[in-house]
Amino acid sequence: MRFNETFCAGFRNIKPCRLAWRQGLNILTGPNGAGKTNILESLNILSGWGAFNGAKISQLLSWRDSEPQTAAALSAFACGERDAHIEVKLTSRAALRLDGTSASYSDIRASVPSLSFLPGDVNLLDGSPATRRLFLDKVCALVSPLYARRLAEYRQLIRQRTSMLRHCFGMSGNGAAPSALRASAVPLARLGSWIREVRAQVLGCMDIESFLRVELDFRGYPDMERGFYDLREREQHARAVLVGPHRDDLIFTASFGANKGRAAGEALSRGQKRRAVVGIILAAGRLIEKRLRSAPILLLDDVCAELDDTAKRETITSLAATGWQVFVTSASADFDSGALWSVHGGEITPQDA
Ligand SMILES: Nc1ncnc2c1ncn2[C@@H]1O[C@H](COP(=O)(O)OP(=O)(O)O)[C@@H](O)[C@H]1O
Ligand SMILES: [Mg+2]
Repeated sequence: MRFNETFCAGFRNIKPCRLAWRQGLNILTGPNGAGKTNILESLNILSGWGAFNGAKISQLLSWRDSEPQTAAALSAFACGERDAHIEVKLTSRAALRLDGTSASYSDIRASVPSLSFLPGDVNLLDGSPATRRLFLDKVCALVSPLYARRLAEYRQLIRQRTSMLRHCFGMSGNGAAPSALRASAVPLARLGSWIREVRAQVLGCMDIESFLRVELDFRGYPDMERGFYDLREREQHARAVLVGPHRDDLIFTASFGANKGRAAGEALSRGQKRRAVVGIILAAGRLIEKRLRSAPILLLDDVCAELDDTAKRETITSLAATGWQVFVTSASADFDSGALWSVHGGEITPQDA
């Protein structure tokens, strides 16, 4: 899929505009604070992922006029494997419509699949396990329509079990494990195993570049019920659920050369990590294209920062080679392929216009 045309009004610092995007690479350049990331964020919302970094709607409404806005409107006409018309109205809540009827974020994600890279995602290899889980969950949610719903159910069960642990083993508790706590392990383990299975399948099908190996880390407990039993005393002490997909991790290791077998986070330089993360996103995109039979849209914020000239050229070449619509932001304009857009003070103009 690709965004053919988008409209944006009342959103962050972006001046009201209608933009006809190009197929392939769209490179947004301009000084810091111009609004490049804000444009990507509007596209992230229009592809069903919501605001970046969980920003609240009140932060998205433009404050640039003397009277702060009370609403913002975003819309897109996307085309490709099929056509889709997406409308998002942001007031105190987000109202979404797909092809003229009320829709959910997941309906929109399924019809306009996109993947994003934000500067913090360079920590995918050496940051917290939560960063890696979030990435994998996003890919799983795109590939398997049931995944997001089951993950939400699983989180709900985790909250219930945590509250039971607090209730039974907190200051006011009596220390006795009630049968409800034991019983809660069964559906939790069943749902957790399903989530682990989807994650394993998705990872198994992702053809990540050959210099990286990736595997799931179940923290020693591939069998969740066994984990609940073995860790019951630690769980009571911590009053937290210690095994399951919400604690699992992904392990990336270098797969050849002098660093073979070492954790990728240690073995690679910052620039190499950035390229490796782009490689992981491309692998995820290929899987999405195969499974959904729909080309993903990539939203890549400052992806070429810290890359030397060769790495930058190779990255841009590999992005262009996908044939997908790719949005890249950069403070510098020295790109020799793709459609260049200049962004200044929230105004976006095609550079070849
Ligand atoms: N709700 C808002 N209303 C108006 N301006 C905003 C809003 N939120 C952020 N901004 C402004 O947007 C600018 C940041 O834009 P951003 O897209 O992050 O810039 P960059 O081009 O560096 O990626 C800042 O100047 C910030 O003040
Ligand atoms: Mg930015």
